[in-house]
Amino acid sequence: MILIKLGGSVITDKARPLTPRKKAMDAVARVLRKADEPVIIVHGGGSFGHYWSVKYDMHTEPKKYNPRGVATVKNSMIKLDNMVLESLFKNGHSPYCLCPSAFMSGNRASPKGIREAGEIAKSGMTPVTYGDALWHGQKKTYILSGDRIMTHIAKVLRPRLCIFALGEDGLYSDMKSRKLVREAGSMRASISATDMDVTGGMARKVREATAISRGGTRVFFVNGNKPRRIADAIGGKFEGTLFR
Ligand code: IPE
Repeated sequence: MILIKLGGSVITDKARPLTPRKKAMDAVARVLRKADEPVIIVHGGGSFGHYWSVKYDMHTEPKKYNPRGVATVKNSMIKLDNMVLESLFKNGHSPYCLCPSAFMSGNRASPKGIREAGEIAKSGMTPVTYGDALWHGQKKTYILSGDRIMTHIAKVLRPRLCIFALGEDGLYSDMKSRKLVREAGSMRASISATDMDVTGGMARKVREATAISRGGTRVFFVNGNKPRRIADAIGGKFEGTLFR
């Protein structure tokens, strides 16, 4: 089983609010069609959900956020998810849309819901879920990132490989030289949050990737705009950053 996160910077143009990148969606969908094992897809919010969560000052911390903000983020994610689903369908997948509340209750993941997603994937359909604004309880909501969902799913289903398709070639040792880190396992201890904060969301991705790889699943950061590299990784050839 392959678990793949389609980063917001691949499926949307992060520089332009509410702008999908449909060609990029199609290219990834085509490549994933070639995998001869079950696939589960998680996608990010990019210039849809992310854009609105910044506007409404909403974060991963549970709080009493503006209800208009919660609704706006959720509506925008439905729109983006629909485009991802259409792209997958058009390219031969049978996507099975799972909104995150299908396997999340508050900020806890339900192993039963996740196991069901695994069964759906094994039946020949492609479960698709996404980062979103979620109900937390006690009048609070929070932003659940697609990266966090990757960890929740990987813990229960232990896929053969987790792929993070990013807008970059992988993890860079520093932003100046943009020297690619090919294997992150040995340097885990030296990846500090401060190094990673330069790239914003990268710190969070590294955190989740490290947690997943500690559970025994290989995690691969790859440039999602070069879909050939996704196909290669499925076949065992890694051009990007591997966590193991
Ligand atoms: C987006 O999920 C969640 C929302 C803001 C609704 P991610 O945080 O995983 O999205 P990207 O991939 O970084 O855009």
